Amino acid sequence: MEKKRILSGMRPSGRLHLGNYAGALENWVKLQNDYDCYYFVADWHALTTNPLAAFDVEENTIQMVIDWLSAGIKPDLPLFVQSRVKEHAELHLLFSMLITKERLERNPTLKEQIRDLHKDTIIYGHLGYPVLQAADILMYKANLVPVGEDQLSHVEITREIARKFNQLYGEVFPEPQPKLTTFSRLPGLDGRKMGKSNNNFILISDPPEEIHKKVRTAITDPQKVRRGDPGHPDICNVFKYHQKFNPDETEQIRTDCESGALGCVACKQRAAEKIADYFAPFREKRAHFESHPDDVRDIINEGTKKAKAVAQQTMDDVHKAMKMG
Ligand code: TRP
Repeated sequence: MEKKRILSGMRPSGRLHLGNYAGALENWVKLQNDYDCYYFVADWHALTTNPLAAFDVEENTIQMVIDWLSAGIKPDLPLFVQSRVKEHAELHLLFSMLITKERLERNPTLKEQIRDLHKDTIIYGHLGYPVLQAADILMYKANLVPVGEDQLSHVEITREIARKFNQLYGEVFPEPQPKLTTFSRLPGLDGRKMGKSNNNFILISDPPEEIHKKVRTAITDPQKVRRGDPGHPDICNVFKYHQKFNPDETEQIRTDCESGALGCVACKQRAAEKIADYFAPFREKRAHFESHPDDVRDIINEGTKKAKAVAQQTMDDVHKAMKMG
């Protein structure tokens, strides 16, 4: 049986952190065996919230793709960069005629982002970025789109655009389904969402000393002040790291934390060791790619070529259906 096609993208945010890993990349690695996967760098999307991000895109793209490869993403997959497949821009333009501004304004993810940005106006490209996302997805006629909950509304918009196109011009696009990524949300060192702007992150490429240094600053159970105090693992950020990266010892750590036998210093030390061990093979692969930057460029060039071939085919279908272009 032919494998179902998956498409997913990440904005070029440079080196990835543990939150990116647990929230998306780990899942991408698993999916590549069972599906026909297309993974891409959504670099035009990075401009929707900051046009000056353009100047950082090249370096951030390379660093992020090195992290993908270090995590075990296969180099022969179509790994590509959105801005190098210009067909996305044309399809985005055509799709922009198939959806109303009011529909885009109802997007709950957008409302949240506007609230976070503390702005009462919105850039046209930001309002329309789900339409660009629809072009990304439908260009490859993807069946499944692995996304976090915040992106569900965008897959829904994609489905609506596919239906509208098919209804007006003829059947070209399948309606993709979201594939929800289920994961234990990894908090940042301070308990907020892990993110670059919150400065509470551990990178998957951090060297062991750096991981130890960062984990030492993590906020644990505020009521556990000294060793001997009984702790509450369920409200402790470091315990979440144990659950993810040290599953075998998690129950023992819970018992010893709750009884007071295990202090936070030792507990953090152990968590840092386990995180460092987990990512050791990643660091090794990164070192290889860092000393062979042309390999990374070749992988992206090859992937982009494969993606472009599919995109051109889709645009042929689109032009035929529309009797235009
Ligand atoms: N909008 C997604 C994000 O901000 C990134 C993205 C762009 C994407 N195009 C996509 C994800 C297509 C999945 C499929 O995270």
